[in-house]
Amino acid sequence: MATTPTNNRGTWNSKLGFILAAAGSAVGLGNIWGFPTQVADNGGAAFILIYLFCCLVVGFPVMVAELTIGRRTQKNPVGAFKALSNGNPFASIIGYWGVLCGVMILSFYIVISGWTLAFVFEEILFFLGYESMAQTIGDLGNGPKNALFTVGFMILTVLIVTGGVSQGIERATKTLMPVLLVILAILIAYIFTLDGAMEGLQMYIMPDFSTISGGLVLSALGQAFFSLSLGMGALITYGSYLNKKQNIVESAAYVTIFDIGIAVLAGLLVIPAMFVAQASGVQIFNPETGALFSSVTLVFDVLPEMFHNVGGLIGMLLGVTFFILLGLAALTSSISLLEVPVSYVIDEHKVRRKKAAWLIGGIVGLIGVIVSFELALIDIFVAIFNEIGLPLGGLMICIFLGYFWKTENALIEMEDGYENVRQSKFAPIWSIFIRYISPLLIALVLISVIWDLLQGLL
Ligand code: PHE
Repeated sequence: MATTPTNNRGTWNSKLGFILAAAGSAVGLGNIWGFPTQVADNGGAAFILIYLFCCLVVGFPVMVAELTIGRRTQKNPVGAFKALSNGNPFASIIGYWGVLCGVMILSFYIVISGWTLAFVFEEILFFLGYESMAQTIGDLGNGPKNALFTVGFMILTVLIVTGGVSQGIERATKTLMPVLLVILAILIAYIFTLDGAMEGLQMYIMPDFSTISGGLVLSALGQAFFSLSLGMGALITYGSYLNKKQNIVESAAYVTIFDIGIAVLAGLLVIPAMFVAQASGVQIFNPETGALFSSVTLVFDVLPEMFHNVGGLIGMLLGVTFFILLGLAALTSSISLLEVPVSYVIDEHKVRRKKAAWLIGGIVGLIGVIVSFELALIDIFVAIFNEIGLPLGGLMICIFLGYFWKTENALIEMEDGYENVRQSKFAPIWSIFIRYISPLLIALVLISVIWDLLQGLL
């Protein structure tokens, strides 16, 4: 296999640097916003158990697969599937699909990330007494304001990606991830000093198994794919910058555990915070249906109201740190979403990194501006590129690896960094998962997601 072009593609500087970068990709809005609200919506701890099952049974094997494909070929997703299939156009489709998902997911991800930035200012303005300005900046329906913050967030992302693999992405995530952990810990500690938090904790840790249904398993698997950054080649791309000394299986395990850990911790913050809000008089359940408010309402209406009710300097600091936390988590993910199309343009079209990052960033930013004005597009993009797109990508990756490239060849690649992998128990178990169990589960989920969507349309 030609590995010569690697020399000028960049590599991770250290083992920890790579793990933090990949964990940074995984930990994002999906963990701090998506996971807690899904847990609250779907029977508390019952959802967590099924989510864990999905991460371990489907997520982890696919993550190992993506990293292995990336390191073997040292290429972007399109180049990687081309290389492993001797240019078979059908295999390249998997890569192109990943690049498209990257562009489209990023285009709404930056709008939501823009909201988190806007709310940092909202909290400060409210504290300073500029209530009407705070209201304008906190208004999710304000298109021009959304567009401004969306573009701002896109520029931030592009600036990091132009720095390259080790000097840009690795350096940024290595600084941001520890900050994120510290902020999360402080916020959890503080929230438990407030009234109502214990009630939230109860809901969080008491499983209500009556809510388990087919639909719940679907949400859990979709959430696992999104949260672990799987199915679109983000980890093929990050894997392509790995050196041969790194143990892929061990790294994937760390990233998976880290991602689950942060999601569980975020739940420990957001769910009690919702009940603190309730205790301070904010409505968190829809009075008509009795169901919890939607995730957008919870994070961008209920929580700010709670921060305002706490009031004073403490309330403001609480709000500002929460939205900075959310923004940082989003930033380390958006750089990985951007890196997928950027690496494709660099490798396959021989464009310089700087130019590629600004070019793709410009296109994504433009779509993001349209989404800023037409928020209904978010639901449509989520349905197509996240709920269907990522599991579909994951399914194609399993089938390609299991039946065309073959798990045996992947295991040979894994031997670099994990010498005895082929003699280990991991090898046969992983092969069975990649060939049978993961694709079967994903296919079932996909069929029912598509079925549901069609029924919604008819
Ligand atoms: N994992 C990120 C999150 O949880 C989102 C993401 C999806 C990033 C796919 C890269 C690829 O928010």
